[in-house]
Amino acid sequence: MRIFRLPGKLGVIAGKLKLKGKRVGLVPTMGALHDGHLSLMRAARRECDCLIVSIFVNPAQFGAGEDFKKYPRKLTKDLALCRKAKVDIVFLPESRDIYPEGFCSFVEVKGLGSLLCGATRPGHFRGVATIVLKLFNITRADIAYFGQKDAQQAVIISRMVKDFDLPVKLRIMPIARDQDGLALSSRNAYLGKEDRRQALVLSRALGLGRFLFEHGLTDAKKILLRMRQLITKQKKAAVDYIAIIDAETLKPVKKVSRGCLVALAVKFGKTRLIDNIII
Ligand code: PAF
Repeated sequence: MRIFRLPGKLGVIAGKLKLKGKRVGLVPTMGALHDGHLSLMRAARRECDCLIVSIFVNPAQFGAGEDFKKYPRKLTKDLALCRKAKVDIVFLPESRDIYPEGFCSFVEVKGLGSLLCGATRPGHFRGVATIVLKLFNITRADIAYFGQKDAQQAVIISRMVKDFDLPVKLRIMPIARDQDGLALSSRNAYLGKEDRRQALVLSRALGLGRFLFEHGLTDAKKILLRMRQLITKQKKAAVDYIAIIDAETLKPVKKVSRGCLVALAVKFGKTRLIDNIII
């Protein structure tokens, strides 16, 4: 496994791989790797000749007062996991090499980027789209792997790929969950015991939404109300949003149909968790 820190150096290697006709797979991460990331790596390992994992806590996607400084950094463990997953290349850039002095170009995916999570995290998706475009360009990835847990991120990146005719295929992989249903996230590490117990309500609320739909209820408002009632029974839960939306446009639907996305963001103490299902 090789580790690259400089975008230019990795770019040269990526160019050589392309000349040799190798298929490059990219798993972009911010580290603190968990089974969700590992499932992306396994898929990439199956499909690609060269598997690149990037580990970069991207400052551009954190707002003022968010958790950039305390975001979990577990490099030694992450590298061991990458080695075990037979990763070929780990890209470990420094902020100054990604955003050198004078950097002033950003990708804004209008509309989509300001809904849902974008409403409470202004600028977040601008930072995400910018780093992801840079990673695509540096690694020359043929296929890039993302998790469905960040459903809005996946929609925004798909839009960017279409809009900019980027020569990369996207694979959006299913949400990995703990046995008790909690969606895996690097931020779960922030949860105290009681927060974590209460956070189990999220997957239960999504399950309730699905159950109500399967039993004939299609009025989005009614389903959302029942989900909210269940979630707010937990004392620590502060709902940011619960939404039933079109899985491509992210616009709210009135009447629920198969293929709709049910998505939510809820805070437990200071920890903001997101989760979703496709009905
Ligand atoms: O999903 C993440 O971990 C990040 O948003 C990503 C895609 C690695 C960009 O920093």
